[in-house]
Amino acid sequence: MLTLHGIIELRDYVKHWRITGQRIAFVPTMGNLHAGHLHLVERAHEFAERVAVSIFVNPLQFGPNEDFKNYPRTLEADKIQLAAAGVDLLFAPSLDEMYACDWEKITRVEVPGLASILDGKFRPGHFAGMATIVVKLFNMVQPDVALFGEKDYQQLVVIRRLVADLCIPVKIVGVPTVRGADGLAMSSRNQYLTASERELAPLLFRTLGKLVQALNDGRRDFQRLESEAVRKLSAVGMRPDYVAIRAAGTLATPDEVTGNFVVLAAAWLGKTRLIDNIEVHTTVASEHVGT
Ligand code: PAF
Repeated sequence: MLTLHGIIELRDYVKHWRITGQRIAFVPTMGNLHAGHLHLVERAHEFAERVAVSIFVNPLQFGPNEDFKNYPRTLEADKIQLAAAGVDLLFAPSLDEMYACDWEKITRVEVPGLASILDGKFRPGHFAGMATIVVKLFNMVQPDVALFGEKDYQQLVVIRRLVADLCIPVKIVGVPTVRGADGLAMSSRNQYLTASERELAPLLFRTLGKLVQALNDGRRDFQRLESEAVRKLSAVGMRPDYVAIRAAGTLATPDEVTGNFVVLAAAWLGKTRLIDNIEVHTTVASEHVGT
C-alpha cells in the first residue's frame, strides 16, 4: 500500500489509474479505524479495481466545544489494518495541505434544509464542514464510487444530495452499520465510554428497535412514540438530543401514508455522544392511533 501526503502526488497517481482504465473506489475516513471502516474497504473492492482510503481529521466539521483536539489519531495502526485489507492507496494529508489558506475563511459547501435538522440542529456548521471536505476529497481522488457507513445516516443523505445538486460524477454507496454482539454500533467515539457506560450503551439500539416494532405494528402516533423513547433513554441516565421518526432516504417528516421510515437518535452517555438509526420498511397498513 502506498501512502501519500500531498495533493499533487495524489493527483498524479490516480491519473495513472484512470489512463489505464482502472476504476477507483474511495473510502473517506477520519482514521482510528474499526471493523465498520474495514467493512467499507471490503465492500469497496466489489466496485473497482483500485481502492483508495483517506485519513484526515477535519477541523471544519467539529464545533468549538467538540473533541477535535482529542479525537483519537492512530495512523500507524490504521496503516497496518489498511494494508492487510488490500487497500492500494492511503491519502493522509496534513492540515496545511488540506487547508492552505485560513480554514476558518474557506469556501464552504452548504446543503440547506438537510444540514440544519436533527444532528445539524445540535451541531451547527457540522454538515457544511463535512460536505466541504468530502467535495474537496472527491475533487482530489476523482473516484468512480465512494462508500459511507449508514451509521451516519444524515451524513449519507447530505452527501447524496450534494452529489446530485453539484453533478459530481461519483456513485455513492451506503453500507449497513457494523454492530457489536450486543447491538452497539461501531464508532471511534465508543472508546470514550467507561466500562459501566459501555454496558448501558446498547440501550440506544434496543430503544430504536422498539420503535421499529411499533411502526411495524401499524402505530403512526410519531410524536408520542418519540417522546416515549426519549423518556426511556433519560430514565437510564442518557441525555438524548433527539429521537426522531422520519421518511427513509429524505429525512422528511412522515405522514400517514409513509411506508419507509428511518428511526434516528442521538444521546449523550457521560462525555460520549452516541448516534444510531434503523431503517424500517413497513408492510402492514397503518393503524391510526391519535396523538
Ligand atoms: O464519516 C466520517 O468519518 C467523516 O465525516 C468524513 C466523511 C470522513 C468526512 O470528514
